[in-house]
Amino acid sequence: MLDSPMKPVSIGLLGLGTVGCGTVNVLVRNANEITRRAGRAIEIGMAATRDPARDRGCDTSGFELVQDPLEVVESPQVEVVVELIGGEQNAKDLMLRAINNRKHVVTANKALIAVHGNEIFEAAQMKKVMVAFEAAVGGGISIIKTIREGLAGNRIEQIAGIINGTANFVLTGMRDQDRDFAAVLADAQRLGYAEADPSFDIKGIDAAHKLTILAAIAFGIPLQYDKVYTEGIGQLTRDDIKHAGELGYQIKHLGIARRNRDGIEMRVHPTLIPQRRLIANVDGVMNAILVCGDAVGPTIHYGAGAGADPTASAVVADIVDVVRALTTDPENRVPHLAFQPGTLASVDIVAPDEFETAYFLSLTAVDRPGVLADVTRILGDLKISIEAILQKEPPGNDDTVPVIILTQRTRERYMNQAVSKIEALAAITQRVKRIRVEHFND
Ligand code: NDP
Ligand code: HSE
Repeated sequence: MLDSPMKPVSIGLLGLGTVGCGTVNVLVRNANEITRRAGRAIEIGMAATRDPARDRGCDTSGFELVQDPLEVVESPQVEVVVELIGGEQNAKDLMLRAINNRKHVVTANKALIAVHGNEIFEAAQMKKVMVAFEAAVGGGISIIKTIREGLAGNRIEQIAGIINGTANFVLTGMRDQDRDFAAVLADAQRLGYAEADPSFDIKGIDAAHKLTILAAIAFGIPLQYDKVYTEGIGQLTRDDIKHAGELGYQIKHLGIARRNRDGIEMRVHPTLIPQRRLIANVDGVMNAILVCGDAVGPTIHYGAGAGADPTASAVVADIVDVVRALTTDPENRVPHLAFQPGTLASVDIVAPDEFETAYFLSLTAVDRPGVLADVTRILGDLKISIEAILQKEPPGNDDTVPVIILTQRTRERYMNQAVSKIEALAAITQRVKRIRVEHFND
């Protein structure tokens, strides 16, 4: 152990679940190296959990366990509060209370930062304390630090990433194993990957929280969670994944934030990606985030997107940053949202109708002459070019066939019109399923 002349920094943990216990384990296991890096020893003073008696897979004998998180936030011994409870309102109240008490805060809570971050950062600025949130995006990948510091010389053009480990784990399981959606999701929950409410993972809400944060630090705009267009993976079937594969694509659940000529697109949805792209080959709980800067070009950041130890890696890195900064002039810290407060830009967020992307359309059509001609005419009238058409064998005894169409890029409003017209054809028997396609080759 480093023979440090300074007294240890005392931290208080709120929550000892998957991430809380992971954080205890990493702090204990790597105490020597962490102290050498931080310049001071870090000790856990106390931790709050609903049920202190429960055995939870980490050694809690070295610190005080309490039930009321306010005790941690109010304790004069605790210098740094680490919020790992999750949820919004309670976590927000606790965090603002900690800030008000001039304590630095570390959190893994993306919902809290995406929805209430603007208010929290303002409070932290007033009280001159740090709020660190590396674990909120990408699990163990240090993507916040990379964009905020490592790529600070760039104009960022685009961010696109697999940013929900649970959704990627479920899609990979559906593709590679003969298992249904619910069974794979249950595994993700057992492994500690899923949110307390797993619909946040499945409906894309968690990915939208993360995209909000990434877009803010990449483009220097305020956090605007309510402007993210969000679709989950609930509608995807094994057939969709199979048909995409036959055309040379993987389906991934992506968060995309990119500049277009009208402003900034922020969208979360299943996306077809050519199989040869690195990001198409990111499977299981792994996350990967593509960041394109004007100077650096495309960069990819890859690692475990969820789970106890990988997330703890990011939480502990933030704790080390806070401990190092305890001796630094508060005015000269890295700004929360990468750009100095007061310089955030008011850029238009593009309405979904104006998104530009290519499409995979899955149709169920009566198998008779002229139907495909009607469909292609509708697309042609709207100047939507077709890349490929695949007509599958009829799956049942009726006279319908699945038809898959890949289009070139178009504006979303033209595709909306095309889909309405196609669905109005008598020979189209079901709702048209559309999945956006991104080639990432520009
Ligand atoms: P868990 O549900 O595993 O843990 C939550 C912990 O908070 C539990 O220990 C629980 O106590 C405690 N808790 C909840 N409410 C209270 C309360 N009112 N008072 C005292 N203690 C309370 O969640 P995770 O560890 O998975 O997630 C924590 C945060 O980290 C969330 O914001 C999540 O989004 C984020 N995150 C999670 C990742 C992951 O892989 N799991 C990855 C990245 C971020 P008890 O154990 O007694 O029930
Ligand atoms: N539920 C989240 C996920 C945890 O699966 O990605 C990591 O943020």
